[in-house]
Amino acid sequence: MTVQIRPITESEWPAFATVDRESFNSPLSPDQHDRFREFLELERSLAAFDGDLIVGATAVASLTMTVPGGPVPVAGVTAVAVLPSHRRRGILTSLMTRQLNDVHERGESVAALYASEAAIYGRFGYGRAADNLFFHIPTHRSAFVRDAPVDPSLRVRLAVPAEAARADVERVFEAVRTTRPGLYARSDARWRLDVLGDEEFQRRGAGPLRCLIVEDDSGPRGYALFRVKGGWTDHNVPDGEVLVNDLFATDPAAYALVWRSVLDRDLCVRLHAWGRPVDDPLMHLLAEPRQLNAGWLDDLWIRLVDVGRALAGRAYAAPVDVVIEVEDRLCPWNAGRYRLVASPGPVTGKASCERTGDPADLTVPVAALGAAYLGGRPLLAVGAAGLVTEHSEGALRELSTAMSWEPRPWGSLIF
Ligand SMILES: CC(C)(COP(=O)(O)OP(=O)(O)OC[C@H]1O[C@@H](n2cnc3c(N)ncnc32)[C@H](O)[C@@H]1OP(=O)(O)O)[C@@H](O)C(=O)NCCC(=O)NCCS
Repeated sequence: MTVQIRPITESEWPAFATVDRESFNSPLSPDQHDRFREFLELERSLAAFDGDLIVGATAVASLTMTVPGGPVPVAGVTAVAVLPSHRRRGILTSLMTRQLNDVHERGESVAALYASEAAIYGRFGYGRAADNLFFHIPTHRSAFVRDAPVDPSLRVRLAVPAEAARADVERVFEAVRTTRPGLYARSDARWRLDVLGDEEFQRRGAGPLRCLIVEDDSGPRGYALFRVKGGWTDHNVPDGEVLVNDLFATDPAAYALVWRSVLDRDLCVRLHAWGRPVDDPLMHLLAEPRQLNAGWLDDLWIRLVDVGRALAGRAYAAPVDVVIEVEDRLCPWNAGRYRLVASPGPVTGKASCERTGDPADLTVPVAALGAAYLGGRPLLAVGAAGLVTEHSEGALRELSTAMSWEPRPWGSLIF
């Protein structure tokens, strides 16, 4: 089978969408796929054609994502799918190879994605760079610690419908976006259709999207977007559930009040939240953090498409001067030795990463560098798993410490 790969044209969009629908076993109606069209940058799409038939798909969303030190352009890989009739014949491999070449030619040094299954992308040089947590909290066990911050100037306002609060919600999100690696700017379509979208298929059996804003006289300082699944037991005891979608605040007192407000929702006995950061301050606010009933999942996967520029383009937490031998089968332009020299600081511009002929202090597969890139995956731990080779004693700890970052990375919204 010979497969041609190229971007699609507008008239090919329905066939492209069909591949996605079939591959994800998705019940999406043509209407919903039209919504999906609003996210797609046609010129950054790639389809695999078997004759006239589209059998594989992928696309890139041009993102501005925060990395340690500030925001950078990142290729957001999305809509990856191969028809069940054509799977395991190397079509994804061809799409990924072409896409990485395109991203490289375009001058983006980093690609990112969310994986449907964690086993897929390591072979293409993506490393698991962030994790997220889900919480299932019995609300009657959610008391805060005594010293939880309280600001009497704060008040809570409900915004109905949630969409009406878009300006306030965006203002809070924008205030925090550049403070945490992984957060990315949300386009108009992302806000309108995704974050604030409230179609029946987005409700999954719960009620409409609701929004609460925490504010003072100067404006909004926090928000939660959530749904409520109302319910009663057979004995007429309230049994409702709060499902938290999106929650941000600009400061600790506002953060505590947003959480308190959703946890205290009347007639609700459980709160579920998915995709929270691994260092969520909520775990310090709860007097009984075990009651989070937390579990973790992989969040962002990162691929360094231009190792030299990517490593020079972030900030570091500690001084570092090491020679790294990079292994990269899929992107041969990356392979080889680099000297990374950086001094610590909160912003970019204090690092250089140049080719060198000097002997290597470490040999690192590109996926491990991607995993460490956002600062949340210590290379020391990757080394302890035997996936990094240290040639000079202490070099692994030096690089691992320099690449670590607080707060921990988190994308917060699947793209
Ligand atoms: C995942 C998917 C795109 C793979 O496409 P494909 O064309 O079958 O992949 P390839 O044939 O190029 O496989 C390349 C390699 O990845 C492996 N692989 C592919 N999908 C895998 C999976 N889900 N889990 C583990 N390994 C997988 C293959 O076994 C193969 O391994 P090998 O190189 O050791 O032989 C396809 O199965 C699909 O559309 N799945 C449903 C939708 C989905 O999950 N998309 C990903 C969204 S993030």
